[in-house]
Amino acid sequence: CKLIDVLKCLKQRQIYANSTSYRSLSQRLGEINGKQNSATFHDVIANRKLEAKRSILVQVQSAQSCKELYTYCNAITPVKQMFHYSTGVEPLHFIIVEFSKEADVSNVLSQSTYAESLQIVPVQSLFLWFKAPVKKNKQKVLKAAKLQIENGTFILNEDDVRHSLKEEKSVSNQMLSLYNSIKLNDISTRLRFIVARQIETALSGLFPHVVVYPFGSSVNGFGRMGCDLDLVLRLNENQSTSADSRLVFHSKAITASERSTSQRHMEVIGDLLQLFLPGCSHVRRILQARVPIIKFYQQLADVECDLSMSNMSGVHMSNLLHLMGEFDSRVRPLVFTVRKWAAEVGLTNSHPGRWITNFSLGLMVLAFLQKPGYAPPVLPGLNLLIKSAGPEDTFITEEGINCTFLRNPERMLDFRRLNTDSLQSLLEQFFVHYSNFDFSMKAVCLNEGSPVTKPDHSPLYIVNPLEQGLNVSKNVSMEELERLKMEMRNATWILESQEVKGMNWGVLSLFDGRRKFGMSPAPRQAKLLEVSTLFETESDGERIEFKSGQVEREI
Ligand code: CTP
Ligand code: MG
Repeated sequence: CKLIDVLKCLKQRQIYANSTSYRSLSQRLGEINGKQNSATFHDVIANRKLEAKRSILVQVQSAQSCKELYTYCNAITPVKQMFHYSTGVEPLHFIIVEFSKEADVSNVLSQSTYAESLQIVPVQSLFLWFKAPVKKNKQKVLKAAKLQIENGTFILNEDDVRHSLKEEKSVSNQMLSLYNSIKLNDISTRLRFIVARQIETALSGLFPHVVVYPFGSSVNGFGRMGCDLDLVLRLNENQSTSADSRLVFHSKAITASERSTSQRHMEVIGDLLQLFLPGCSHVRRILQARVPIIKFYQQLADVECDLSMSNMSGVHMSNLLHLMGEFDSRVRPLVFTVRKWAAEVGLTNSHPGRWITNFSLGLMVLAFLQKPGYAPPVLPGLNLLIKSAGPEDTFITEEGINCTFLRNPERMLDFRRLNTDSLQSLLEQFFVHYSNFDFSMKAVCLNEGSPVTKPDHSPLYIVNPLEQGLNVSKNVSMEELERLKMEMRNATWILESQEVKGMNWGVLSLFDGRRKFGMSPAPRQAKLLEVSTLFETESDGERIEFKSGQVEREI
């Protein structure tokens, strides 16, 4: 009861609504009530963006440099928090330094310098390195006792994860443990918003209203460590036009079609990333795709990025997925387990092609949770969310895509907790559901909350929930669908036939399913080697292939 009072008091003072103390208290209350804490997507993104605005990323010699860096920065302006992480086999060490306000970052940057070489492009960015002191530093290294330095690493030890899964008591616990060990952590999430911020700050001189939104698995709650970073760049976001102003900026007229203008702009942005922004490398321009993108690798953050300029529906889609994950605490562990299984048996890989993607698989899980057998649904259909939407939930993109749906999961509390199936049971039902699914006639559809008649002959049809005329899984070939069906049946059989806990029991036996059936392990590596990337062109979904011929870090 005391906790409820404290929360009410904090909530009344709106200023605390997003503070850490409010969040942890309401999370605690949620745990007591058996619910997970629901945060709206908008709040999560807004907080992360603010964190990034208050942060810089500094490469250091080793983890021991933390205190020295703390002392140095603190002498300029008070440091709020620091996060250390390392990447690579011969680890490079980095520290995210968070200050209290955005102005502190400007203050620190104004007192930073460039390397003493003529061979550099002197760009100011949020990425810095901490050089050794010129003369022996007499300044006493402050004890960073007050400061909690969080440590993180992005190298997931697959053996450790497997070992901890073996030790669990039930399949449901294994699924939870898997989710907790491979989901994107706080440091990696912060880093992704700093990468977005780097592009914003680089462009802000020309475009003061520029915003770069991270979307996709980095923000929708379904991201695993090492997933790619999807970004959408908007040059003129949230600009408040003052009708009264008599001073109007002179601007260039757009003469070509919107698409070719956007392609041209992206070419220039691609050049800018490649030539000027520290850490941005391997820039590839895929401008003929339905949604033109620039791919690049941000080596200082160790993340592969896809940047687009016209994909706000992707952001709303991320909001929808985030919302579904917030509805029920079983959703994310189930999606993670299914995705991990698909990767292990070779149904998915990190390159686009004729196989199913993580995004499509996630939608299949969500659609199943809207109609799991005879039990009450775990998730509502999108149509119900659209009906329950208020004026604050109304969004229509520039392209005219209606992305209106209820955004606050708290307003659908009644819907929750009617279904009490365990995670294990939901996993088993998932495989049974799709083993019996009539893929030849039916399409997976989240709008209705039940399958609908397939509108065309695509082998696998998953209705795009926000653009219902589109098939999210149009890329999937008949051969890949057959493999998916076969692996679903194998998985059903493996889960049904488990009597005793062996070495690799529960979800581990699912991941090793192919070996159990005397098949060779999934040919993922081989597939990666012959990488050719498929992208949809704008006109009637015709496909073009770009041979990249090069496989980078995945191998
Ligand atoms: N998206 C979409 N429609 C599609 C494909 C993608 O709206 N047909 C949006 C979704 O919001 C998706 C995001 O684009 O989450 C990024 O796509 P992708 O990177 O393929 O999927 P992720 O969800 O990010 O998963 P992964 O971790 O595999 O990158
Ligand atoms: Mg992605």
